Amino acid sequence: MVSERWSINESAKIYNLNNWGADLFSINKKGNVCVHPSSNSKHSIDLRALVDDLIKRKIKPPILLRFMDVLQGRIASINRVFKNAIQENNYPATYQTFFPIKVNQQRQVVEAIANFGKRYNIGLEVGSKPELVAGISFATGNNLPIICNGYKDTEYIEMVLSATKIGYDITLVVEKLFELEKIVELAKKTGVQPKLGIRVKLSSKGTGKWATSGGEDAKFGLRMSEIIAAIEMLEKHDLVQSVKLLHFHIGSQITKIDKIKTALIEGARIYAEMRKLGVGIQYLDIGGGLGVDYDGSKSSYFSSVNYSIDEYANDVIYQIKNICEDAGVECPNIISESGRATVAHYSVLVTNVLNTNTQNIMPDFEATLTEADKLAPTVKKLVDIYKSIDRYSLREDYHDTLQLIQEAVSLFNLGYLTLNDRALAEWLYGKIIRKINSIVEKIKPIPEELQNFQLALRQTYFANFSLFQSVPDSWAIDQLFPIVPIQRLNQKPDVIASIADITCDSDGEITSFVGENGRTKFLPLHKIRKDEDYYIGFFLIGAYQEILGDMHNLFGDTNAVHITFNKKTGYIIDTVINGDATWESLKYVQYKGPEILKRVRDNLEKDVALRKISIEESSHFLELLDRTLLGYTYLGE
Ligand SMILES: Cc1ncc(COP(=O)(O)O)c(C=O)c1O
Repeated sequence: MVSERWSINESAKIYNLNNWGADLFSINKKGNVCVHPSSNSKHSIDLRALVDDLIKRKIKPPILLRFMDVLQGRIASINRVFKNAIQENNYPATYQTFFPIKVNQQRQVVEAIANFGKRYNIGLEVGSKPELVAGISFATGNNLPIICNGYKDTEYIEMVLSATKIGYDITLVVEKLFELEKIVELAKKTGVQPKLGIRVKLSSKGTGKWATSGGEDAKFGLRMSEIIAAIEMLEKHDLVQSVKLLHFHIGSQITKIDKIKTALIEGARIYAEMRKLGVGIQYLDIGGGLGVDYDGSKSSYFSSVNYSIDEYANDVIYQIKNICEDAGVECPNIISESGRATVAHYSVLVTNVLNTNTQNIMPDFEATLTEADKLAPTVKKLVDIYKSIDRYSLREDYHDTLQLIQEAVSLFNLGYLTLNDRALAEWLYGKIIRKINSIVEKIKPIPEELQNFQLALRQTYFANFSLFQSVPDSWAIDQLFPIVPIQRLNQKPDVIASIADITCDSDGEITSFVGENGRTKFLPLHKIRKDEDYYIGFFLIGAYQEILGDMHNLFGDTNAVHITFNKKTGYIIDTVINGDATWESLKYVQYKGPEILKRVRDNLEKDVALRKISIEESSHFLELLDRTLLGYTYLGE
């Protein structure tokens, strides 16, 4: 039913879409969510229409939609704000982004970043040998610079030295003093002059979940005394002029701008002092940490940030310039390793909600209301409450209802209530709660003790996805991601829900959502009509989620579709990456599809020979098994 008194603006408000959407998402007149190629662009793609088109192409949900223009737009925005800040502050050096590929290593994603980023001289940051190899594959033929962080063994260092020798622009960052000994030894042995960076452990810390990446106890970086020792060691081996970069990283998703300022001041001071000691550093790498406003609250809450990217860039440039001028040293070229802020926005996971409309198969107890005298006393009391409740008896009736429900369970366990009586009590409880809600909705403000009762109204919507595969941070660190139905937003939502995934894990449920006033326990959704496909979108999931995802219950990678905007046709599908088939998921845990088929077939043949089963039964089963092995790991029809 279309409600007359509901507008798409009201939907935008309850999901806080305009505040977290960075002007990349909107709702069209049809009530569908749209994606824009860049902030405020008048071009858009209707997400629901896109998903319908993909389904026609037999691409099944869950589908990860990657909007490549959005990705490019983010790279352009970050570079634009730094360019502006450099101009405004008359900063005498350059800015460069190094994309930390740990944030999203997918080949097509890094390839897009490397290709589009060429105009901004973008580089890649890597933190392990596999990432180094991935980095080298993109740097080859592209002159793409690489920064190497992370723990390094001999093989890692040798590879970097050898790459330097043959012309790659590759900086080896010393994370630990013991690494430096190995680097010096191998540099001597190979005769290669390395390009070195030093990571410093600041006393400044970030905020929130990643605060421990900074501060004295941080896992990486050299303390001040270790920096002095490193300089001495490098001088001794005539390598001090190889140090070109100073790096610090105080954590991801820094929510407060003042923490960033403090770190910048400390980092810039160390840079200035090292310059004074004669170390020819040319680059100051301020690491990652530029946050994303996941809940749109513009606050220092950990799913948000209390600053814009413009403010961030301005502070970076201003603080570094200030310190360098005071110290009388040359300003460094600035590098940031902004990962989250580059890729969070560009991907959206869309999946179908499994139809939860069970109304028509529930027993109809309505008739019993007229024959209440025949009911068990506990159930009868519930009927009485249901009939008499009004705004004045609300509190008392609510508490009595809770007590009666508990009583019904106890009486059932003792054998005094039948299954039918207990079902009736459960049904009445639902009716009473809904009646209370309709009264409470009209009372403002809602009395405190009645606020939580709404939880009893919350329905569980089952969605065709694995939380552990697609939004692992929602489970691991309780991070908020905006979740919005992608259609019917011109209709008032009539259900409040939590979102459960299809894993057999009770942790696979989302009960915290982005709402109008910050975090809420309810996601407003629509009652799903019979035969209707109802999709929900998980937004801002481009950073970390794809690679941190795991294979709980062997639900594998989802289908992924890369989309670019096109003025004529609306959009173009650049590529479709098939999600894992069942045999691929099984392969991760050492099962082999053909072997499974063979074993089952051989065994069935024995049963056929003994006439326990027919040839048809055997081949039907094998056919199904084969089809399942080749099929998608997620739910179909
Ligand atoms: C050294 C380093 N650089 C960059 C990043 C990326 O940070 P962010 O995604 O917050 O930009 C990280 C991640 O924590 C990191 O450890």
